[in-house]
Parts: sequence; C-alpha cells; structure tokens
Amino acid sequence: MSKEINSADLLSLCRRRGFIWPSFELYGGVAGMFDYGPLGSNMRNNIVEIWRDIYRGREGFIEIDSETVNPREVFKASGHVDEFADLITYCEECESAFRADHLVKEFFNNPDVLSQKELDEAFVKFGVKCPECGGKLGPVEEFNLMFKTSIGPGSSRVGYLRPETAQGIFVNYPNLYRYNREKLPLGVIQTGRGYRNEIAPRQGMIRMREFNMMEVELFVDPEDKGWVRFPDIENDPITLVPNTGTEALTMTVGEAVKNGIIANKVLAYFVYTTQQLLTRLGIDPKRLRFRQHLRDEMAHYAMDCWDAEVLLSYGWIEVTGVADRGCWDLSRHAEFSGTELTHFKKFDEPKEMEIDKIKAKHKALGPKFKERAKAIAEMMETRTPMDIKEGKLYLNLDGEEIILDDGFFEVVRVREKVSGERVVPHVIEPSHGLDRIFYSVLEHSFEHDEKEDYTVLKLLPEVAPIKVGIFPLMEKDGLDTFAMDIYRKVHSPRMEAYYDGSGTIGKRYARMDEVGTPWCITVDYESVEGPNKNTVTIRDRDTTAQKRIPVDSVPDVLRSMLYGRPFDDL
Ligand code: ATP
Ligand code: GLY
Repeated sequence: MSKEINSADLLSLCRRRGFIWPSFELYGGVAGMFDYGPLGSNMRNNIVEIWRDIYRGREGFIEIDSETVNPREVFKASGHVDEFADLITYCEECESAFRADHLVKEFFNNPDVLSQKELDEAFVKFGVKCPECGGKLGPVEEFNLMFKTSIGPGSSRVGYLRPETAQGIFVNYPNLYRYNREKLPLGVIQTGRGYRNEIAPRQGMIRMREFNMMEVELFVDPEDKGWVRFPDIENDPITLVPNTGTEALTMTVGEAVKNGIIANKVLAYFVYTTQQLLTRLGIDPKRLRFRQHLRDEMAHYAMDCWDAEVLLSYGWIEVTGVADRGCWDLSRHAEFSGTELTHFKKFDEPKEMEIDKIKAKHKALGPKFKERAKAIAEMMETRTPMDIKEGKLYLNLDGEEIILDDGFFEVVRVREKVSGERVVPHVIEPSHGLDRIFYSVLEHSFEHDEKEDYTVLKLLPEVAPIKVGIFPLMEKDGLDTFAMDIYRKVHSPRMEAYYDGSGTIGKRYARMDEVGTPWCITVDYESVEGPNKNTVTIRDRDTTAQKRIPVDSVPDVLRSMLYGRPFDDL
C-alpha cells in the first residue's frame, strides 16, 4: 500500500462517498465553503464526542453554546475590530485579490510576520507580480477578516459573525463564575461555527470561510499555573519547535517546563492534552509537532502560543493553537463593559494589608443627591478603584445610571485586615480547528494500493463513521431477514451499522474499506442451517482476517472492540 497521498484523490473520495460536498454546487459553488454529508457528519460528531470525553469527562469542564452573531462592542473590546486583519494586495490590472504574505512564501521562512512596508519592499526586491495575469501588484493594505452585519432592520446596530467562539465564553464569565461557585480553575468548552472572510481560500478544507471550532477556555489564578494532573504526564514525550530555533526537539513534558521551553505546567499540560486528543483521533504521532509562535507572529491577545502542526500533503499545517491569553480578554471586557470580571482569592489567614479604597465625599453628595445621597455613598464604597474608568465611577441605582467624577469620591490608602484579594484570572486556550483535524485524520488514515487500485481508510473505530457493515451472502432464502435482524439489534448513533445486500461480497467489503468501516459481518447459509447455525462471520478491515462467532454475541463483541478489544482476542 502506498502512503503517498494526493489531496485531490482524497477530496474526490470524500465527495463521492458523502463525507464532504462543496457548498452551493448547484449555483457554481463558493470558494472556502463546504457541507458535511452523512458520513462526514457522523465522523465529525465522533471527533467532537472524543474531545468532549477528554474535557467534559476526564477534566470535568463545563460546556456552553453561545450566539454566533455578536454586537460590535464585543469585538471592539476583544481587539478584533482593530486587529483581526490580514494583509491584502490587489492586482492593478486584473483586480484579483491575494494575501500579501502568501506571495513571498518562497523568500522568507515566516512571511506572516512581515509588515505592510516590508511586503511592499519585498514585491519590488523579488519582482513579485500577479500570479493570475503577471500584472503589477498594488500597495499592501489591511483587510479585516470579520463578516459584518446589522442586528435588526436597517443598520441600527452593527454586528459581526464571530471569528472565534471564545468571546462567547469570556462575555459569560460572570455567569460561569457564579455557576462554578466562584472557584478557580474554571474550565469551559464550546463547539460551533467560526466565520472568517478569508482573502483567498485554497487547500480544500484547510482554509474555509465558515468553519467549525472546538474551543477550550481555562480560567486560572495567575499565580497558580500548576495542574493537578501534571505529574501523570510529565514523563511522556512531546515534540516541540521552540521559537529560539527551527529544529524539532523531542523531550518529556516535565523537561520542557524545567528547561523553561514551555512557560508553565498548565500550558504544558494542555499542549500535551492536545497531543493526546490528536493521536487518539488517529493523527500519526510522527507527523505531529508543536511549534511555538515567534513574538511578532502571536495574535493580539496572546502572551505565548504553541501550534499543533500536522504534516499533510500541503506541508506542515496548524490544526490547533494552544495560547496563553493572560488576562487580556477579561481585562478588556471589564474595561469596555464597566463590569468587574475578577476572582476573589481568599487568603489562608486574613492578612493586614495596605489597600486603596473608594471613600465617598458626603459633603458633595448631600446637596446634589439629597435623600439618595446615603444609598449612593454606600454603593460607591462597595466598589474598588479598579472600577474607576477615566476618572469616573458608574453606578446603577434603581435602574438609573449615575456618573460620578472625583468631586464626589476620593481614593484613600488604608491598613486593614483583609480575607483575600481580587485578581483577574488568566486564560489558557486550546483552540481546535475541527475541519482541519477532520481532514488530517482522513489523510493519515488513507492508504491506496496503486496496483490493485484499492483504497482503505484505516480510521480508528471510535472515529469511523460506520462501525459495521452487515451483509447477507444472498438477498434470499432468509439470509436477508437474518441480516436485517442483526442490523436492527446493533444499529444506534454510537454503533452506526450499514446493511448492504447488493453486489459481490468482495465489492461490498471494498465499499466499506473505502469509508473506513472497521468490521463487516456476513450472514451465509451456515448461519441458518447445519452445525454452525446461528453463527456469522466477522471480518477485520486492517488484516482482512475472518472469524465465526455466535450471532447472539454480536452486539457485545462490537461494543467491546469499539472500546479497544483486539480482533485477535475473539
Ligand atoms: P492560520 O494562520 O492558518 O490562518 P490562525 O492562526 O489564524 O490560522 P487560529 O486563529 O489560531 O488560526 O484559529 C484556531 C484554529 O482554527 C486553527 O488552529 C485552525 O485549525 C482553525 N482555523 C482557523 N482559520 C481557519 C479557516 N479559515 N478554515 C478552517 N480552519 C481554520
Ligand atoms: N480562539 C482562538 C482563535 O480563534 O484564534
């Protein structure tokens, strides 16, 4: 079997067998948009369930589902309105648009760190012309990748389709924190669509304009970047490309932290968890590495970022970014919304500390606010200096907004016994691109025998869209009803079965091998009469070995193999 893979062959299989279809084909299609067919949907759901099993199951994180259209305020605060842009250039002759950094790939190791000016200069220096018509390229400009819309009729309220699901988690921090009984760490997951108006989507499912994400946001105490499960994995190996060089180094996770390559244990733990997830899905560990972003490559919100990169027919492709977002998101949403987004960190023992407090100026409040002055003063004194925005305090008294300048309050330093302090949690984020993972799993499972023209997708059972093919040798003499009966007993969303009665048995095996079905069950004449009555044969995809088993044992046998029992053990 050849391991060489041509992405066009795989995409054609995906299309023919109902994994993936280009969207809107009826109307000529739209670049960067794909629909999942029945097998693709099954397989994608299986991937999501494995991700859930790790995060919701093993780690005990909670899951939410937030809106995909967000008002502008959210992305103004998050920095996406001002920063979430790629550099674009248009051909001055044919007007085609290009991502500017992609046009100078062959001249630089990391072209996406180049500035507008550096790209303009590179076009001149290397004589870069329009790849479509050879025309002159125009000046490099910024192009914001968010899709803009309006919420409600007209343009009354500007909204954007979310470019990441993460903001839905950050803006829900007060609800999530309360749900978690005001404790950290607080781990939240969300899966759903992200939208990016990519300049030039190419490479099949790698660059889509509407794509699926599985995001994880872990809120931690900034001073406590340890992780309870770290000792379980610290001796396991991981392959890293730190930003101090270009070489891939394999070391243990513990060594990576000890040698300061990954900054802290919690970030290292989730880089490793990403490796566990990807390999459990069937990504070949030898074609997986974690590359640290260069400082000027990092997203506007990140303090550190490690990309899981998978070697595909397109080269090394990022499938997941594991970022340390620090306190960026919560601080920004606190600033823009005027709501404190913090964690109250209790000390073991109360401590005598100097703290800054807001003190009401009663003499100024009284004449202005009369009988409400006392309530306002009390409310003011529950606030902290962190709540003062550009010299003003914003209060809400019985539904009325009251804005107070420093004529009405002062900040005083006092010594007090305090039981704890408020801190802005830091966020560690493994952000998985579901479609890229889906495609990578398919590429790493794809085996094609040129001579025989035979394709097998060696998908792991947990991931495979169909778990078992069920065939009557002939669709007559009761073999069909016998097989259909097995199908009815076995088939469920977790044990997708496929009944097939047409064509030779060889053809039926081939159809199942091509879509990665790990097992096939055949009902033959021995199943219905003679000494082997009530037995069936079960075939293993990867070895093509066959065994005869009692029909009554089929559901249990399949279930146990789905959870790892080897075929040889039957
Ligand atoms: P790239 O540099 O390839 O554009 P990115 O660094 O912008 O990717 P992130 O912002 O880190 O990507 O997004 C998190 C994950 O979402 C990525 O690791 C990737 O798997 C996925 N992703 C991002 N953009 C796309 C896209 N246009 N199509 C499909 N998946 C995407
Ligand atoms: N949430 C990570 C990203 O979209 O970049």
